[in-house]
Amino acid sequence: MGKAISMVSLFFLLIFLVRAQRAAAETTTDFIFQGFKGKESEIQLAGDSTITPNGLLRLTDRDSALAGTAFYHKPVRLLNSNSTVVSFSTSFVFVIIHSSSNNGGFGFTFTLSPTPNRRDAESAQYLGLLNERNDGDPRNHVFAVEFDTVQGFKDDTNRIGNHIGLNFNSLSSEVQEPVAYYNTDGKKEEFQLASGEPIQVYLDYDGPTKTLNLTVYPTRLGSKPTTPLISQHVPKLLEIVQEEMFVGFTAATGKDKSSAHYVMGWSFSDRPVAAAAATLNLSELPPPPTNKAKKRGDNGKVIALIVALTTVISIMLVLSLIFMIYKRRLQQEEILEDWEIDHPHRFRYRDLYEATDGFKENRVVGNGGFGTVYRGSIESSSSSDQIAVKKITPNSMQGVREFVAEIESLGRLRHKNLVNLQGWCKHGNDLLLIYDYVPNGCLDSLLYSKPRRSGAVLSWNARFQIAKGVAAGLLYLHEEWEKIVIHRDVKPSNVLIDEDMNPRLGDFGLARLYERGSLSHTNVVVGTIGYMAPELTRNGNSSSASDVFAFGVLLLEIVSGRKPTDSGSFFLGDWVMELRASGEILGAVDPRLGSGYDEEEARLALAVGLLCCHRKMEYRPAMGMVQRYLNRDEDVPEIEEYSGSSRSDFRLKCGGDVSSFDRASGSSLTRISSSSFISAR
Ligand SMILES: *[C@@H]1O[C@H](CO)[C@@H](O)[C@H](O)[C@H]1NC(C)=O
Ligand SMILES: *[C@@H]1O[C@H](CO)[C@@H](O)[C@H](O)[C@H]1NC(C)=O
Ligand SMILES: *[C@@H]1O[C@H](CO)[C@@H](O)[C@H](O)[C@H]1NC(C)=O
Repeated sequence: MGKAISMVSLFFLLIFLVRAQRAAAETTTDFIFQGFKGKESEIQLAGDSTITPNGLLRLTDRDSALAGTAFYHKPVRLLNSNSTVVSFSTSFVFVIIHSSSNNGGFGFTFTLSPTPNRRDAESAQYLGLLNERNDGDPRNHVFAVEFDTVQGFKDDTNRIGNHIGLNFNSLSSEVQEPVAYYNTDGKKEEFQLASGEPIQVYLDYDGPTKTLNLTVYPTRLGSKPTTPLISQHVPKLLEIVQEEMFVGFTAATGKDKSSAHYVMGWSFSDRPVAAAAATLNLSELPPPPTNKAKKRGDNGKVIALIVALTTVISIMLVLSLIFMIYKRRLQQEEILEDWEIDHPHRFRYRDLYEATDGFKENRVVGNGGFGTVYRGSIESSSSSDQIAVKKITPNSMQGVREFVAEIESLGRLRHKNLVNLQGWCKHGNDLLLIYDYVPNGCLDSLLYSKPRRSGAVLSWNARFQIAKGVAAGLLYLHEEWEKIVIHRDVKPSNVLIDEDMNPRLGDFGLARLYERGSLSHTNVVVGTIGYMAPELTRNGNSSSASDVFAFGVLLLEIVSGRKPTDSGSFFLGDWVMELRASGEILGAVDPRLGSGYDEEEARLALAVGLLCCHRKMEYRPAMGMVQRYLNRDEDVPEIEEYSGSSRSDFRLKCGGDVSSFDRASGSSLTRISSSSFISAR
């Protein structure tokens, strides 16, 4: 029996020894994670936690309503054989980056748990640790140090946001402290958990004294504060700790309070020596998560958008300001092409702009003859010169260069019966021609304007002088200058009258611009209905003879005071011819003159006029001869063949009405500019 008893005793002793040995072998756990790269197998992840590629343990990111847990994969033994909790210590470095759209939340815990995960744990205030139903249940067997960033989710407890609490089976903390450390002067310094900076925690439990010390501080301090934030007697831990416990972290975000929770490094030890957990070497930890991710948040997007928009808007504002300044300068300044630079007759646009008061409406003195005419005055040191600026917008700038070349020579034309062309200026699509300002207006208005300034009709003497003056001007263009210049648009509105009632022919050569500038494959006829020689409608070739034709019409017009055509079938040349045939040629003289005219001069002028507008160009005299006739240096020959032309013939050829003209020439009309027009064929 004694033997049997001793056998049983031996058996129990053996069991005890084996257990004791096993216990001794497995009691202590020691680990250190300087980052979690490559340690995935040692960390049991659940929920939304993950280990990032650069080795950070991320418990949650900043999406809403997340819960994540991470536990050391093996259980630790925190119970002694005589039922006391053994000493343990742990240290970790964490970072909380709150979402930029809110204050962040909810927080994370360091947890002792009987399981390596937290099944059914909820997010938000349950911190991924517990849920609504098991909160406070003693069967939970969880102890958690909570790092909570949300203020007062329950009535009385957790009133302080940014606090640390000691929790036993419940999310209501038994002990809680605002987050702070004691500085070297022993003063308490509060700081924020969710600041995005690395924060280190030391948690030391001393088994014999049942004291839990907690120190928390930003790693930037460099060294651990000597005084712990919390030093608490926690006998209650014994009710929690079971034979096998798991150590790890839980974290959660709320619906509209979310932070990313990271653990950068973690060490743990349950060796009986106090504060035995290996010290983390901060420079060996992975780099802390940057706040860059923050900008990807909703708020970040909005901010980025606002920044982008602001930038774009300010750039656009600056650009439009620059553009406005540029445009303003452009209005006054010009960009010159190479060929424009070395021309003595080129004017600066800025000068013209100033001279005409910015091309103001009230400076317009005429409209027609291809463009608008502005009066201006150019201030020079000695005096201010009156100028007329004609602004032309050609339908193409193609011919402008050639035209300008021509102006350069036209600018040298000097004759008392020509409007002096001072120069030119090209600006954008406009060509500006600068002439001497002639004060009395044009012949057109002198002949026809009802209440003339003087109140009287243009006297015969004035008329005859004007006729002779125009002839002299035209003669100069045709024969006396170094080159033959065809005017192409002789008509009363192009004859300006100066103070001395001296006529000055303007717009010479201008029609050419349109002939050249228009559609390159078509031959273009430029002129004014009523003044165009019949051959122009056939071959479009302007010549001195076609100028003479127009002069003839002008001459008849000066004498008779009648327009060359009307809307019907009237043609001035035919009408005068018929009067002549019936021996009543003086019946063509302007009746407003009464008897106030020189009969002989009138007969002469009418005869020359008829001769000049002969429908056959070879019968028309040259301008030199015209001048001799008018000066009575030569007798006017009898007109032959003139009567052979029928009235309708004239109407067709001279353009009494546009549609028949159109049909006759088989062409289409491309432009009617005031009274001048261009016809392409
Ligand atoms: C429990 O046992 C440990 C050694 O295993 C000893 O250090 C400790 O003092 C004991 N505690 C009590 C209360 O007996
Ligand atoms: C806890 O802190 C107190 C006060 O600073 C100190 O006396 C004690 O030794 C600490 N205990 C541990 C386990 O660190
Ligand atoms: C921490 O790590 C760095 C670099 O790995 C090393 O130079 C330094 O000596 C370490 N510090 C400690 C206290 O071990």
